[in-house]
Amino acid sequence: MTGLTRNAGSGDSIGDAFRVVGPARLVGKVAVRGAKNSALKLMAASLLAPGKNKLLNVPHIADVEIMAELLERLGCTVTHNTEDHTLTIDVPEIPAHKADYDLVRKMRASINVLGPLIARVGEADVALPGGDAIGSRGLDFHIAGLRALGAEVHSEHGYVIAKAPNGLAGTNISLEFPSVGATENLMTAAVLARGRTVIENAAREPDIADIGEYLIAMGAKIEGLGSSTITIEGVERLRPATHATLADRIVTGTWAFAAVMTQGDITIIGGRPEHLEIPLDKLVAAGAVITTTPDGFRVKMDRRPSAVDIATLPYPGFPTDLQPMAICMNAIAQGHAIVTENVFEGRFMFVNELKRLGATITVDGHHAAINGISELSGAPVLATDIRAGAGLVLAGLVSEGVTIVEDGYHVDRGYPDFAEDLRSLGADVTRIQPKLKKLLSALT
Ligand code: UD1
Repeated sequence: MTGLTRNAGSGDSIGDAFRVVGPARLVGKVAVRGAKNSALKLMAASLLAPGKNKLLNVPHIADVEIMAELLERLGCTVTHNTEDHTLTIDVPEIPAHKADYDLVRKMRASINVLGPLIARVGEADVALPGGDAIGSRGLDFHIAGLRALGAEVHSEHGYVIAKAPNGLAGTNISLEFPSVGATENLMTAAVLARGRTVIENAAREPDIADIGEYLIAMGAKIEGLGSSTITIEGVERLRPATHATLADRIVTGTWAFAAVMTQGDITIIGGRPEHLEIPLDKLVAAGAVITTTPDGFRVKMDRRPSAVDIATLPYPGFPTDLQPMAICMNAIAQGHAIVTENVFEGRFMFVNELKRLGATITVDGHHAAINGISELSGAPVLATDIRAGAGLVLAGLVSEGVTIVEDGYHVDRGYPDFAEDLRSLGADVTRIQPKLKKLLSALT
């Protein structure tokens, strides 16, 4: 593997915290790269086609490095060109089938090797994942679906162990909830199963269609991508393919919220507004003016946002990954709002951090009631996951004085070059070295 370093995506310096000086107004252009959630899953799906697969527009983030290491342990050769953002994955005829805990625990997306391995090798031992501290994130739908396809699955010593020595057989699967991960694992298992598989109540996230299109380029037969019924006709063998990763809709949405919160004017190059209809409608309700441009869209705000009620739901609903931004925007909005989290119960953990900046929020179960105030007040806070961390950086931009967002590595996992991009839009945001960070924390 070449071109990947331990600090992939940290942007400008080896830093552990973001130092944000507010208030700021963000103005200018920012480019959005391939989606973390698509790129990692495309990498895992590559296991299905022996030979040289190529992915384009892959973001330079630490999780890509972790997935690359996992694929290398499974016998692949991975080359990442961080200059032109391409990644080649040379997949052996018979990959190994064990995904070890030391890697899986760092990144939940590792579970996506389960479907391809059981389909290709007839067995898979995948450690039970950890990942972000944002909820219980079960695997029961993945396991029930693989069993329906004919695999024997049990868990032992912290591993999911799946076996299908005689291959998988197509069937009808109805998901209890449109889980993104379960839809991906079942789709990537079914493409090599005998006969037809129908997945009902499938997730409709654009990431699913992205993976589906990659599989189709490999020779898979899939219909209904983007709808809640996906039909897969199994084929015997897939061939290597080249595919460009979809632009990151969560990063795109983060920039849109940043424009509104800071009363700014940001043109998001590469952003796909059609993947963010509900979030953008909410921003318009808050007072934003949104216009499409030839290569993306522009979000302009010239007043304090109005409070808007928001509830997270599976796509095309409001994404759970933008819920922290919704809370942060309402924290400085005119009026009161309720933000309801329907996907992950642990996702309000960061609210206590936001309260340290002076936000007025009461959490009751999966509802957060927010009373907007005109400006927050800078303080040291802790990033608890990727999106909460990004939300806290945005909150720092609308806080008076210095905000230090500690454990910035969480943010790096989803936002390559975040500090650099923020600076290019006019913000005073820097990375702080651990030693300096301790000193500054002691002073603030
Ligand atoms: C979820 C998000 C996805 C986001 C990703 C990263 C949804 C529907 N999915 O995908 O958009 O990009 O997080 O933050 O918003 N569940 C089970 N059993 C299972 C699988 C899931 O109970 O076998 C539950 C989870 O605990 C959770 C819900 O279903 O409450 C959604 O899970 P799922 O869509 O699978 O999560 P991710 O794939 O991580």
